Amino acid sequence: MAHYQSMGSIPPKRHTQHRRPAGRGKVGELYYEELMGEEGFSSDSSLLYHRNIPSTIVDAREWAIGDLSTTPNHPLKPLHLQPHALFDSARTVKQTDVVTGRRLLLGNGDVRISYAVAGATSPWYRNGIGDECVYVERGAARVETVFGAFEVAQGDYVIIPRATTHRWIPKTSRKDPLRAYCIEANSHIAPPKRYLSKYGQLLEHSPYCERDLRVPRGPLLAEDVGAKEGDETEVYIKHRGSGPASSGGIVGTVHTLPFHPLDVVGWDGCLYPYVFNVRDYEPITGRVHQPPPVHQVFEGWNFVVCNFVPRKVDYHPLSIPVPYYHSNVDSDEVMFYVEGDYEARKGSGIGQGSISLHPGGHAHGPQPGAAEASIGAEYFDELAVMVDTFRPLDLGEGGLACDDGRYHLSWSGNRAKPADAAEVHSID
Ligand SMILES: [Fe+2]
Repeated sequence: MAHYQSMGSIPPKRHTQHRRPAGRGKVGELYYEELMGEEGFSSDSSLLYHRNIPSTIVDAREWAIGDLSTTPNHPLKPLHLQPHALFDSARTVKQTDVVTGRRLLLGNGDVRISYAVAGATSPWYRNGIGDECVYVERGAARVETVFGAFEVAQGDYVIIPRATTHRWIPKTSRKDPLRAYCIEANSHIAPPKRYLSKYGQLLEHSPYCERDLRVPRGPLLAEDVGAKEGDETEVYIKHRGSGPASSGGIVGTVHTLPFHPLDVVGWDGCLYPYVFNVRDYEPITGRVHQPPPVHQVFEGWNFVVCNFVPRKVDYHPLSIPVPYYHSNVDSDEVMFYVEGDYEARKGSGIGQGSISLHPGGHAHGPQPGAAEASIGAEYFDELAVMVDTFRPLDLGEGGLACDDGRYHLSWSGNRAKPADAAEVHSID
């Protein structure tokens, strides 16, 4: 994010001496400068000043990262996933954290989408494969990073750059636990290029701007979180490796640091985590139906993230507010229905917390009767987060476990042929 920030203690000139405070007449120890940068020194970066040498570890062991295998969506079907059902017991939620407890729903070689309902604090973690965009469906949490902390809540997108050491601390509530929808890229995640000036400022026609982005409150040091500078700490790292091909080769390692990872006394630059709340997205509307790109909020390599927010709808006197049938021939579409009513999907079984997968190669659109019923509507009270991928999505173990098994029949009045009936299964 090309939006310069500076926090804490940094020297006036980069790559020059910066020292710990010392007593009168004494010279303090040097801080250790780390450049965290993208694309081989050719894109955004930040300079972080550590109390300790950031390369230091005293142990490395394997992190058994869980089941990241995927199964092709074959035979090709639109799917309805119900991820809430994966975390339906209070005991499961209590023991689950956002990092090690996420269940893989869908994935391909560019992006993985997983889900967690978490009551436990995560270990310190960094994703060495790509940026993460974690959408907070419900609940609240504190996210502590080496850049500073965020208080996050319902509707927040938390964008965490690759290799940012951080942890998730849910603000637990039995009634309203933290529900996290995790979009992990194998690339970087950024605002759409068409909304950025050639120097990176968000332009006037962008549905949001820099004022809507929350930056971390920092610096954040071990003593600020009740820890000690010298506390030995484990950091869980997800990284590229030679894991099973069906899991994208992804593996995990736990590094033991002989100190606490919150040791950055200051940083500056244009690469850092930030938060954007979906309520700050200003929808673009028109006289007739606007195509999904107007709802785009972020993009990564080979995928986009869009959000459908509560909005006035099409105002041409003969408009049909729900979408026309569309065959997005180059994309798979994943819609996560988070709040409100979703007019176009009435009668399909989809409700709040549902996810639909509309795969490329198959046209999709409103369920029967929805187009007629939508005529005259002036406002849609809906909130959905959509991920469109250019490569097909396969099903993760979590996706397989919460597939309703019959969504593909919802345009035909759920009339399964006898042969299909045998395949229908339910999470009930
Ligand atoms: Fe669509």
